[in-house]
Amino acid sequence: MTPNYFITTPIYYVNGKPHIGHAYTTILADVLARYRRLSGHDVFFLTGLDEHGLNIQRTAYKRGVTPQQHCDEMAPRFINLWEKLHIKYDDFIRTTETRHKRVVQNILQEVNDKGDIYFDEYTGLYCVGCERFYTEKELVDGKCPQHNTPLETVADKNYFFKMSKYQQQLIDYINDNPDFIQPKHRKNEILGFLRQPLEDLCISRPKSRLNWGIELPFDKEYVTYVWFDALINYVTAPGYASDEKSFKKWWPAIHLIGKDILMTHAVYWPTMLFSAGIPQPKTIFAHGWWLSGESKMSKSLGNVINPLDLIDEYGVDPLRYYLMRGMVLGQDASFTPESFIKRYNSDLANDFGNLFSRISNLINKNFGGIIPSVENFTGDEKKVQDESEITIVRVNELINEMRINDGIEEILQFVRSINRYMEQQAPWKLVKTDKPAAERVLYTAAEALRISALLLHPVMPNRTKTVLDVLGNTNDGLIWGKLNTGTKLKDHELLFPRIKIEKPKENEPKKSKKPIVENVISYEDFEKVELKTALVSEGERVEGADRLLKLQIEIGEEKRQIVAGVAEHYSPEELVGKMIIVVANLEPVEIRGIESNGMLLAAKKGKELTLVTIDSSAVKSGMRIF
Ligand code: MSP
Repeated sequence: MTPNYFITTPIYYVNGKPHIGHAYTTILADVLARYRRLSGHDVFFLTGLDEHGLNIQRTAYKRGVTPQQHCDEMAPRFINLWEKLHIKYDDFIRTTETRHKRVVQNILQEVNDKGDIYFDEYTGLYCVGCERFYTEKELVDGKCPQHNTPLETVADKNYFFKMSKYQQQLIDYINDNPDFIQPKHRKNEILGFLRQPLEDLCISRPKSRLNWGIELPFDKEYVTYVWFDALINYVTAPGYASDEKSFKKWWPAIHLIGKDILMTHAVYWPTMLFSAGIPQPKTIFAHGWWLSGESKMSKSLGNVINPLDLIDEYGVDPLRYYLMRGMVLGQDASFTPESFIKRYNSDLANDFGNLFSRISNLINKNFGGIIPSVENFTGDEKKVQDESEITIVRVNELINEMRINDGIEEILQFVRSINRYMEQQAPWKLVKTDKPAAERVLYTAAEALRISALLLHPVMPNRTKTVLDVLGNTNDGLIWGKLNTGTKLKDHELLFPRIKIEKPKENEPKKSKKPIVENVISYEDFEKVELKTALVSEGERVEGADRLLKLQIEIGEEKRQIVAGVAEHYSPEELVGKMIIVVANLEPVEIRGIESNGMLLAAKKGKELTLVTIDSSAVKSGMRIF
C-alpha cells in the first residue's frame, strides 16, 4: 500500500500582499511534498487563505470595497505567486467557501451539544493584527509582543469554548507523543505555558462589532471567532463531515507553521479537536523567521521583502534554493542580498552549474554529443556509485528529520566530489590517450549528475528538469545505472550564469539598483527626523514595569522627560551624566500613564543592548546630529 502524506501550510491573511514569510512556508511545504512524491508516497498538499476577521473587514472598508470583493481581488495574487514559484499544491482552500462554512458550523454544533460552549460577559485586550486576546502578562511594554502596537479593549457578551477543561488532556498528549510539537524547544515552550491555568477561549463576535465571519449555528446575532474558523480548514479540505473515506485516507496532517502562531496551533487547535472528537494532527512543526539582515520584517518597519522582486532579479529556482539551504528549521535566518549572491555563485554557478557544463561540453566535443556506453568499470567508478547510493539514503534520512538544509548540503558535497573526480581523471586528456577510459569517466560523471539533479529536483524543479531533459532521462528514478546511453544531448543554455558583483570605482557614485527591500526612504524623509544630543540629568525605575526607566533629560536649555525600555540593561544611576542621542521631534506618548517626550537611540543585537552615547567634551547637549 502506498503510504499517505498530508502536509499543510497556514492559510494566509489576505489583508496585504504576499511576502517572503508566506512564500517561505509554502515553498518548504512544496519541497517536502515533492520529496515524499519522489519516495513513492501518495501526497496531499494543502494551502489557502484566511479570509474572515476584523483585520480583513477593516482593510476592505478602508479600500471602499466589500470584504468579499476584497478577498476575491486578493486571492489571485497568492495563486499567481504560487504558480510563479512552481508550487504544486493539491488543494487551495478559502475560508469563505461554502464547503468550509458548513464544516465550521457542524463542529461548532458538536462542541456546543457536548456542553463545551457557554455564554458570558468578557472584557479583554485584543490585537487586531494577531486576531487574538492577550493577557496583561503577555504584553511587552503594554503592547502586543508580535506587533509592538497598542491593544484594543473589547467588552462584550460572548460565547466561550471550555478550553480549560482540556488542559490536562493536552499536557498528557504532548508528553506521550514526543513528535507532536516540533522542534523540541517549541514543545517545551508550550508545556511551560501550560503550567499556568489555561483560560477559556472566546469564540464569537457580536455582529454589531464584526459581521465578516461565519454565523454561529446556535445564535444568529454572532459570528465565529476567526481562529476557530481558520484552524478548521485543515479538516474541511481532506473531507471531514463530507467525504469520510477521503478524510480517513489523509488525516492526521503535518502542520507547518511559523513560530508566531504556535500557541493557536498547539493549544487552541488540539483542544478544539479533543472536544469535537477528532484525532490530533501528526505533527505541528514551527519554523523560525526570516529576518531582514538582523531585524524582524514588519510592515511598520517597512522592510518586508517582496518575493516577486527577488524572482525578477534572481529567478525562481535560485530563490527556492537559497531559502531552503539558508534556514536551519526551527531557528531564525537572516536574508541579505550579499549572502544570496555568495550562495548562488558558490553552490549553483561553481559547483552544480559548472559540473553540468563540463560534462555536456566534453561529451559534445569528443563524442558527438552521444552519451557513451560502457561495460568495464574500475574501482574509481565503483566508488562514485557507492557514494551516490550513500547520498540517496542520507538525504532521505535528513529530509525525514526535517533537516532540509543539511540534506541539500549532503547533495552538494556529492556534486563537489564528482567535480574532484573529474579533476583527478582529467577526461579531456584521456580522450587523446585512452578513449574507453574517457568514456568510462564521462558516463560515470553524467550518471552522478543525473542522480544529483533528481535529488535537487524538489528544491529546484525547473532548472534540474533542464539537466534531466538534456540527459534525455527524466523519470528513471534514483537507481544507479539508469542513464540512457546512446542518447544525444540536447542543446542548452548556461544553467546558472555567475552573478557579477560590480565594485564601484573610486569617486564614482554607486549605480542605483532596484532595492529588494521596501524600506528605502528619501533624503527629504530622513531630514524630517530631528536627532539631538541630550544630557541625562535624573533617572528612576518605573514601578511595576521591569523594562522601563523614567529619565529627565536636557536638550540644550530645554528640559524633558522620556520613558525608555532599557531598565534590563542600565540602572538609573549609570545613565545620569551620560550624553545620549534622542529623536527630538516625536509626538509625545503616554507609557504606563507617564508622558514620554522623545526616544533615545540604542544599538541592539539579540538580547544585547547598548545606548548610543557620545564621549567628547566638544559635544554639548542640544546639538543637532545630521
Ligand atoms: N491566518 C493566520 C494563519 C491561520 S492558519 C489556520 C496567519 N496568517 S499570516 O498571513 O499572518 O501568516 C502566515 C505565516 O507567515 C505564519 O506562519 C508566519 O510565521 C509566517 N511569516 C510571517 N513573516 C515571516 C517571516 N519573516 N519569516 C518566516 N515566516 C514568517 O497567521
